[in-house]
Amino acid sequence: MTDPVSNTPREIRETFREFFGAHARVFRAPGRVNLIGEHTDYNDGFVLPAAIDRCVWAAVSPRRDSRLIVRSTNFPGAVEIDLEETNPRAAHHWGDYIYGVAVMLTRAGHRLRGANLLIRGDVPIGAGLSSSAAVEVATALALLENSGLTLDCVELAKLCRRAENEFVGARVGIMDQFISCLAQGGHALCLDCRSLEHRWLQLPRDVSLVICNTMVTHQLAGNEYNTRRTECEEGVRLLSRSLPDIRALRDVSPEQLQHHAPELPPTILKRCRHVVLENARVCDAAVALERGDLAGFGCLMRESHQSLRDDYEVSCAELDLMVALAEEQEGVYGTRMTGGGFGGCTISLVKSNAVVTFQRAVSAAYLAKTGLKPQIWVSSAAAGAGEAG
Ligand code: GLA
Repeated sequence: MTDPVSNTPREIRETFREFFGAHARVFRAPGRVNLIGEHTDYNDGFVLPAAIDRCVWAAVSPRRDSRLIVRSTNFPGAVEIDLEETNPRAAHHWGDYIYGVAVMLTRAGHRLRGANLLIRGDVPIGAGLSSSAAVEVATALALLENSGLTLDCVELAKLCRRAENEFVGARVGIMDQFISCLAQGGHALCLDCRSLEHRWLQLPRDVSLVICNTMVTHQLAGNEYNTRRTECEEGVRLLSRSLPDIRALRDVSPEQLQHHAPELPPTILKRCRHVVLENARVCDAAVALERGDLAGFGCLMRESHQSLRDDYEVSCAELDLMVALAEEQEGVYGTRMTGGGFGGCTISLVKSNAVVTFQRAVSAAYLAKTGLKPQIWVSSAAAGAGEAG
């Protein structure tokens, strides 16, 4: 990384002083990669993400009035938010993530003080690494602490998700906010998105998480995401005629889906098949990781990608190419697209001693085939959000 994490809180405090002339406290929240369990969270299913070493920082100092003055080193201009506004509305602007968090905290009964805020992030935007959840979580922590308040991590994650669902208008699941709040260094987190039961699974030391950014983001991603959700809901509606006890695709077993497949139109069947089998894969992957069976884990990653490509149809040519190039390399256990899809990043589990060759070979081959220079980096599995030193 060109931007050493250890220097960042000091730098951000200096920038804050230039903007606001005050001393700031700094909070950080990480982005994430999802190792397996894609598009399962909003189907009440299972996911297995890890936090990454790229994060968002929120620096904060109190104000005497009831306004939030927000600046970002990533975007020009300032955003002004009145905490007493009785009819808060999204402006389709980066400030919505901050405004949404302030609104949801207030609606949940937390009395916020006015604040100056500076947001800075190094999670690539639109790359499927969950920069928006990191902004939400860092902001929520900063606003709470600035008001002398604290909140349990699970409640914090739920509230940030609500900001994105109800204020920003993206119907995302709980995965991104949850891992940003609850991650533990060196571990992935296996989460049941219905009960929110979770356990941390240690990642082997001699294996690296290698993230490859295809450098493409597809404009349609937001609409397509909501369409997939609707298709899953339609699957539940149709299946519940024969299976009256199901509430979500999480409740459907692979055998049940196979049995009732003729009751579903072809596209809905494909979407359901991805979700139902992906849930099973996450459970198998967690067991494989606990047993140290990385080859088994890697096979499940590969199957997950194929299913996202063929059944859920959220991959794209660049992601498929990156996966194919990664799979050709020595020391790779498995690779798949990570996040919502339609561009963004892949995640590979790679033997640590094979990483340098991997980076060089994949980068050169991807550039030769696409004309795009990918960003490829190794991330540690980082700790969850908190105050930065
Ligand atoms: C986005 C959403 C998550 C999840 C993934 C797909 O990252 O924010 O809630 O649905 O897509 O797994």
